[in-house]
Amino acid sequence: MKVAVYPGSFDPVTLGHLDIIERSSKIFDKVIVTVMYNRNKKPMFDADERVALLETATKNIDNVIVDKHEGLLIDYLKEKNVRILVKGLRAISDFEAEFQMASVNQKLCSEVETIFIMTRTDFMYLSSSIVKEVASFGGDIANFVTPDVRKAIQLKVGGSNERK
Ligand code: PNS
Repeated sequence: MKVAVYPGSFDPVTLGHLDIIERSSKIFDKVIVTVMYNRNKKPMFDADERVALLETATKNIDNVIVDKHEGLLIDYLKEKNVRILVKGLRAISDFEAEFQMASVNQKLCSEVETIFIMTRTDFMYLSSSIVKEVASFGGDIANFVTPDVRKAIQLKVGGSNERK
């Protein structure tokens, strides 16, 4: 059985993440989407909220499960006995950081392979950070996230997040 872990901050999950999840669910027998703690980011949603939003968004994909982990990604992979990491790759902006993370992870455990899935061009521009920024200024984020995530962000930023 081919199992892959798709790790990330998912703060919160966007349509870009969901595209990667859907596509990887067709490649692997099982995909574990793991909410991680990125020390360089201050999250809007706590880990349980991020997990809940991901669970709702992926409820119709049978071979996807959602989990969370605090600590080294490699330790998590060892614990789950998984050797394949899936990451989404957007245009050029992601390459340097992703190359560094894949290289470090491979140094820490040589059996681990990171498989990059190119983001669909429709979502090349999308990130959780930009969605939160648009919402915080009252912009409409309906094209970027699911209705549930949109509601959850609205509750965090306060009021309706659409310009009238
Ligand atoms: O969605 P993100 O923020 O780009 O995901 C990055 C993440 C959380 C996958 C990465 O920061 C991570 O793996 N953090 C766990 C700590 C770790 O293992 N760091 C060293 C290897 S890069």
